[in-house]
Amino acid sequence: MTDTLQKLEVALGARSYPIVIGAGVSQDAAALAALVGQRKIALVTNTVVAPLHADIVERALGATVVRIVLPDGEVHKTLDNVARIIDVLVANRFGRDDLLVALGGGVVGDMTGFAAACYQRGIDFVQIPTTLLAQVDSSVGGKTGVNHPGGKNLIGAFHQPRAVLADTALLRTLPARELRAGLAEVIKYGLICDPDFFAWLEANAAALLALEPAALAHAIRRSCEIKAAIVARDEHERGDRALLNLGHTFGHAIETVTGYETWLHGEAIGAGLAMAAHMSVAAGLLSAAESARIERVLQAFGLRTSAAPEVAGDAARAAMNLDKKVQAGRIRFILMRGIGRAFVTADWPEDALAATLAARFS
Ligand code: NAD
Ligand code: GLY
Repeated sequence: MTDTLQKLEVALGARSYPIVIGAGVSQDAAALAALVGQRKIALVTNTVVAPLHADIVERALGATVVRIVLPDGEVHKTLDNVARIIDVLVANRFGRDDLLVALGGGVVGDMTGFAAACYQRGIDFVQIPTTLLAQVDSSVGGKTGVNHPGGKNLIGAFHQPRAVLADTALLRTLPARELRAGLAEVIKYGLICDPDFFAWLEANAAALLALEPAALAHAIRRSCEIKAAIVARDEHERGDRALLNLGHTFGHAIETVTGYETWLHGEAIGAGLAMAAHMSVAAGLLSAAESARIERVLQAFGLRTSAAPEVAGDAARAAMNLDKKVQAGRIRFILMRGIGRAFVTADWPEDALAATLAARFS
């Protein structure tokens, strides 16, 4: 373990849990033993992560582990694969007191969490996220679920993990493109509520892209602190938690129209952040200079700011109407009054959306 070890808490009363961040935390046998106790463990992972990291994590768990290896990719985030997890739990006679461990990115984490939410009406699970996106976002906050052919994440439940172990050493095997996609979610946190963190990201792009351990640990910690604070005050997204969806109305539209295949989730969110900034300028809320800063930081991290030419504006608009954030027929956008000053609104000008669709889609 390194001196960059960081620990914080998601404060949810009796369901509070730690997030531990640092190189080697997934192999800290003493910490794992305290979490696991005498329980049976099923480790859920996928065909890409298993050969890279499953053996060392299983050794550190130090117990008999049933390994469940799912196929890789967003297209496999399905009810069928959750049923596969549950079949293994039944076959191995897992009880209410046993434990699931998710070792993988957001796809594995979301499915494992959903299986844990459903099995015997809820068993414990631990997140060991292995992508940057999962370490800064999907492993924290208890949103679990799967996709339906009719839309992304349409099936799911809130079910908080017992702990999140974000091991920055596991990111060394992550493809550069996946790292950049995760950085989109990191930028999101600065834009929501922390202009100083945004400025830190502007200054530290090179260190983050080079996986410099202290820079990574700081970015993950600040991201998790912001998410944990928002989740603690609005666990079930009745208010503020919707802020975490900054960029997501545009991003989900890009993913839906392109069939979840050509754009990574984080890449779509990165472009969605630029689009939310563009729409905020068009609505007279954000200065063009701040929007330009946002675009520059996205570009510094190798992220796109437009969905043209492959996504048509009318197809994106149609996809937005299916978004889970639609209430009483009205899309709720997250817009910005400045960097670090995001807000949720159903009261947005149609011409601002039209301007963004015209400028950033074909
Ligand atoms: P992912 O889980 O598909 O992982 C990306 C790719 O990286 C996969 O091919 C995976 O096998 C591979 N990989 C994972 N760890 C690796 C490692 N250490 N080394 C090498 N390869 C590795 O995608 P993701 O970006 O982690 O997560 C996206 C998913 O998360 C989406 O389904 C999205 O809806 C969900 N999500 C959920 C929440 C939430 O709050 N629950 C929040 C944001 C995103
Ligand atoms: N990623 C959005 C949320 O957790 O609420």
